[in-house]
Amino acid sequence: MSGNERITLELCKESDIKDGEMREFEVLGSSILLVKSNGTFSAVGNKCSHYGAPLSKGSLAGDRVRCPWHGACFNVKTGDIEEFPGLDSLPCFTVKVENGSVHIVTSKKALENVKRVKAMSRHCASDRSIVAIIGTGPAALVCAETLRQEGYTGQIIMVTKEKHLPYDRTKLSKAMNAKPEDIYLRTKEFFSQYDIEVRMEKEAVSVNTDEARVKFRDGSFLQYSQLLIATGSR
Ligand code: FES
Repeated sequence: MSGNERITLELCKESDIKDGEMREFEVLGSSILLVKSNGTFSAVGNKCSHYGAPLSKGSLAGDRVRCPWHGACFNVKTGDIEEFPGLDSLPCFTVKVENGSVHIVTSKKALENVKRVKAMSRHCASDRSIVAIIGTGPAALVCAETLRQEGYTGQIIMVTKEKHLPYDRTKLSKAMNAKPEDIYLRTKEFFSQYDIEVRMEKEAVSVNTDEARVKFRDGSFLQYSQLLIATGSR
């Protein structure tokens, strides 16, 4: 059997799960979350895309499951992530109910994916607009990715005074010997694949909103169409 071949696997009897319930199933070595909400079944990956918590231990409210560890939320019908932390969505599987049994239709390959990156646009040369984002924390990164997910084709320029790509700051107090690359939220390749530019070691010192320009400590400027200041606070 090839990895892409479609397979139909029985999970349980229809009557085994009540409305508003969810249950975890082990399917060919992968963990699947089966949910019955508003009278219909749906199935998504059971591992939270943030740090892998079992979502079956979280809480379900309508079509939304909340991770038990740090509260990321996912839509159980689509697998889409709806609340941070975490950046990726869950794989979503087709569910079929036949003769009182609940099945998922999938492939071996699809079962191997524990995360799903939403479809994203890229920069198109004819779009001259620029979104400038000061700061490279999670809010800044989610903004950049959401723009691409929503089809924005202008330039996206993230600027930080740090000398690293966006990283998981919470790890600084938990994984003291981690190398910077180990805690990056996205790889260098990811940023170039989706045309999200990250300018490092550039400290913004002022913004002239009348002229739509950011000034940096090194004396350079950045002209923007839209600006997000997401530097956090202290
Ligand atoms: S592991 Fe799920 S939110 Fe962190």
